[in-house]
Formats: sequence, structure tokens, C-alpha cells
Amino acid sequence: MTIAANVGPALAREVANATSIGELRHQAEGCTRCDLYRNATQIVFGEGPVKTEIVLVGEQPGDQEDVSGRPFVGPAGRLLDRCLEEAGLDRQRCYVTNAVKHFKFTQRGKRRLHAKPNAGEIKRCAWWLGAEINILQPKLVVTLGASALYALLGPKVKLTPERGHILYPANRPPVLVTIHPSYLLRIRDEADQRRQRRDFVSDLHKAAAYRSQ
Ligand code: URA
Repeated sequence: MTIAANVGPALAREVANATSIGELRHQAEGCTRCDLYRNATQIVFGEGPVKTEIVLVGEQPGDQEDVSGRPFVGPAGRLLDRCLEEAGLDRQRCYVTNAVKHFKFTQRGKRRLHAKPNAGEIKRCAWWLGAEINILQPKLVVTLGASALYALLGPKVKLTPERGHILYPANRPPVLVTIHPSYLLRIRDEADQRRQRRDFVSDLHKAAAYRSQ
């Protein structure tokens, strides 16, 4: 399925201007484009090789990522790592980033509970995500969950019907649509969880196959 270039407002038409990921990260460290920087510990920028074929995009850093400053190092990240390995994808060869670069949470006593970023926050942060993708020019972008999909392709493209498909936006790298690993962690029914995990690995396997084409 080919999608027109201007599918939605989410991925900003204008993005940060930088010639390297290092320069971009440096600029992003001072980001005040939305209010999320106020309560977060630090920005969690993308990481991985700049000569990469695959960019994985999650939603936003969680509690552990906020503290460590690195994407996908908490429970969802560990599950992602295992599923990538099963799919034959080496995380060390992928660039891993998020649609939103600061942790959004609500405080409950001592706990900081994940809060979903809103459309405005995703749009503001597309300034960075768009620039990361422009610099990296990967062969394939994998969206993990609805927020990443929204950031890349806007509101008209929905996760459920497109899950497992590779979409081809004009003038941008192809996008493989899949779920977020934290969804798997929330499934209570064991059989359902097994099924969903198997489908997730199979989606990631498509990314591995695409890379080696
Ligand atoms: N969930 C995400 O979407 N990104 C992370 O970095 C961690 C958890």
C-alpha cells in the first residue's frame, strides 16, 4: 500500500536542522518544545549505529529509561530484546528511538505511572524524530505501537488493520507496523499472550527479511 506524502500532521513538515545524530542529540538536550521536559529527569534520545538499515520507534521512555537516559532498557525493552533475537535481528545493529523523548507520568505516592503522550506532544517531538530519520536514511522504520505509528504516518493510519504490513509513504523510508512490546506484558491470558508474542516475532522477522533483501 502506498500512502500519499502528506498523510497527516503528526510528522512535522519542518524538522530540526542538523548534520549528524550527535549534533541533533546535543540540540535536543535543551528541548522545551512541550512541557514534558519539566518533570522528566533527562531527555532519552535514540541510540544505535548511524549506519543502520533499521530504525525501531517506540512511544516514549519509561521510568527506567528516564533514570538511565537510554531507550528500551526496562521490562518492555528486555522483552523487545528477546523477541528481536528470536526474529534474527541484532539490536546492536538497529537504531532504537522513541516518538516522544521525555518520560510522561503521573505521580502516585512514590511510583511514577506511565501516562500516554497526547497528539500535541507527539507532533512537537516529531521535530526530532523526523530529523533522526532524515539523517539515518534507514532501509526500514519499524513502528512499535500506536503512538509511533501516529508520529510517522498521522491519524488516518490505524494499527489494527495495518499490523504486520509494510507501508510505503512517498519520499520517506518504508514503515513496518507492529505492536508495542508493553502490550504483551499487559495480556493476562497465557494462550493469548503466546499468540500475540509469536505474531510480534513474526512481524520483526519481516524486518529482518526486508533488511537482507
Ligand atoms: N517504552 C517505549 O516506548 N520506549 C522506551 O524507551 C521504553 C519503553
